[in-house]
Amino acid sequence: MKIISTVILSFGISFYSMLNAQQSNKINIDSIINKMSIEEKVGQMTQIDLGVIANGDICKLQNPQSINIAKLENAIVKYHIGSILNVGCGSGTISLENWHVILNSIYEQNKKLSRTKIPIIFGIDAIHGVNYTMGATLFPQQIGQAATWNPDLVKQIHQITAYETRASGIPWNFSPVLDLGRQPLWSRFFETFGEDVHLAKTMAKAAIIGAQGTTNNNPYAVASCMKHFLGYSMPLNGKDRTPAWISDRELREYFLPTFEAAIEQGAKTVMINSGEINGTPVHINYDILTTLLRKELGFKGIAITDWEDIYKLVNVHHVAENKKEAVRLAIMAGIDMSMTPNDFEFNDLLIELIKEGSIPAERINESVKRILNLKVDLGLFSMPVFDKKNYPLFGSEQHSKISYQAAAESLTLLKNENNILPLDAKKEKVLLCGPSANSLNLLNGAWTHTWQGTDTIYQTPNKLTILEAMKSQANVIYAKGSELNQVIDLADCLKKAASVDKIIICLGEKPGTEIPGNIDNLELTEAQIELVNKLSETGKPIILVCTFNRPRIISKIEGKAKAILYAYLPGDEGGKAIVDCLFGKVNPSGKLPFTYPRNVNSFVTYDHKAADDIAEDFSMTAYHPQFDFGYGLTYSKFTYDNIKLSQTTLSTADSMVVSINIKNESKIAGQEVVQLYYHDLVASITPSVKKLLCFKKIELKADEMKTVNFTIRKKDLSFINKQLIRTTEKGDFELIINTQKQILHVND
Ligand code: BGC
Repeated sequence: MKIISTVILSFGISFYSMLNAQQSNKINIDSIINKMSIEEKVGQMTQIDLGVIANGDICKLQNPQSINIAKLENAIVKYHIGSILNVGCGSGTISLENWHVILNSIYEQNKKLSRTKIPIIFGIDAIHGVNYTMGATLFPQQIGQAATWNPDLVKQIHQITAYETRASGIPWNFSPVLDLGRQPLWSRFFETFGEDVHLAKTMAKAAIIGAQGTTNNNPYAVASCMKHFLGYSMPLNGKDRTPAWISDRELREYFLPTFEAAIEQGAKTVMINSGEINGTPVHINYDILTTLLRKELGFKGIAITDWEDIYKLVNVHHVAENKKEAVRLAIMAGIDMSMTPNDFEFNDLLIELIKEGSIPAERINESVKRILNLKVDLGLFSMPVFDKKNYPLFGSEQHSKISYQAAAESLTLLKNENNILPLDAKKEKVLLCGPSANSLNLLNGAWTHTWQGTDTIYQTPNKLTILEAMKSQANVIYAKGSELNQVIDLADCLKKAASVDKIIICLGEKPGTEIPGNIDNLELTEAQIELVNKLSETGKPIILVCTFNRPRIISKIEGKAKAILYAYLPGDEGGKAIVDCLFGKVNPSGKLPFTYPRNVNSFVTYDHKAADDIAEDFSMTAYHPQFDFGYGLTYSKFTYDNIKLSQTTLSTADSMVVSINIKNESKIAGQEVVQLYYHDLVASITPSVKKLLCFKKIELKADEMKTVNFTIRKKDLSFINKQLIRTTEKGDFELIINTQKQILHVND
């Protein structure tokens, strides 16, 4: 016994000093792996939820969360766990101080009890800011970030989120979502960068570089996690985690490029799509997880499952007879780490599989190596938990300003009849009503303090609802008029309407994500439609402010509104930004990152095919969305003129410049997103009527004119052909900016 403990002790010491030496790059991961037992390796491949080691029952934790040392000891000593996630299912936000207590005790216990001393990596969903830490800066959700069309700003958002995540002691963020938002019913639509490949790719790169920085061992950067590989956002029936049917060509044309771009940018981890594509759950799809992800795209980081997804191969997907077979299928397909997350069955089963030879040792070593590499890159061996005083900017004014700027730049003015906006705070009296007028939850959406974002007890202090922000600067009276699903106090609302000049109605949607966020009907709720209808009968001008999780259909009431300001889910600074925009302190510059549907059975994206345009009378007018992709008005007036091509013929070696003049014809300074589209006139795969090629956001003072230049190459005009190869075919292409067009000829 004594001999055994001496051996273990000396192994432990040499292990520890070896790990400490990593700072000077001396660490040899292969030699660590050679000394690890099967159980220790499997432990590294396991991620449990905080609930497993906290006081209380799983999903019913004591609040605030605290570590149960006996449970933690069991997880470390018996299961050698490598990773923990989140706040404990069903639990709420944790203070910075409490995070440090929790993470320090995990660190200390691991140092004391683990034979290998390999640090445990903590991961979290910091989706729009580090939303599970009290007082953190909360930004617009990703769909609003995309609406800014400002990649530099998106980079800053993800940089700040990384800083505040690290300030909480956490080095790994399950963000960004790189699924394309092409199915507006989907409950996670708001978590995407929208429907367009080029826009989402641009934002994906900005998010990864912002979050991860450019060097390893950076105490202000985190490991990003690309979610959710691949094809998760396109369920046929629109419900979360239901089957998708996507051809290989379309997967590559639409859903792969964001991940490709993020991998090129060095994204360190990826989370797998919980659902199935064409009948195969992605968690067992070797072609996607190994052939495509590893061999073709060269991804070197960690592939983690989504929540409980190995067990779901048995319980939900019915592709494995039992959990053991499910573990085998997933690991052999290419999974490195299992977000198990509520028990240790995965460990026992994987150990059995390895011992009986059903999974080769090399396959396990490969995953463990990737996991240890990540821990080394993040500097976890030497600085697992960070001190609050090293993060003075956590939740600071400086960070809020960026959140405010992002909210302001996302605001998309969809309608403004007779320039009814901006309102004059000095002259006009307004009635403010609607379910989102006085709610921070409805401005933030899900992933805010709790998973579904519906609890009201953890609000960030001193953040303003639309009503609170408006009170300080306008002559406003308030009557709610309607909950999301029920009209209330309508008589009071109508009475108050009689005394005002204008009515602002703030429409909203219940915060929700994943399966709890599923809906059967994209129409706006009847109660909200009724509120607009009744108030419009007063004859007072109506302004709608929309804070939705997805583009809820508003065609029945659009005509009743003089102005519509679409605000996405703008975050904690959204109330202030919306009010400043309504009263003219902010000139709106957001543009829709998706096509706004007019009808529930007509989800056609802007980059559709010509056949989608054929109407009942055979005219080419069937594409008739409520508002088009890229659309958004401003208080300025911009005109476009003189589109020019530096050459009219393009060959493989060339690059060329497309230029355009933009003039601000108004006295109001503003920002404009200049968007260059192309239309491949004839191609072997039916071409889109137009596709975004590139864009630039510019600022123009009153009366100012600027020339914007776009440099393009032949490869920018490519598509995925029948053989699944990216190609640009020769022929004519129309280049389009605003209403200006030119033809470019592309050579072989
Ligand atoms: C979601 C992921 C999330 C994970 C951990 C899953 O249910 O699909 O996006 O990162 O839970 O909370």
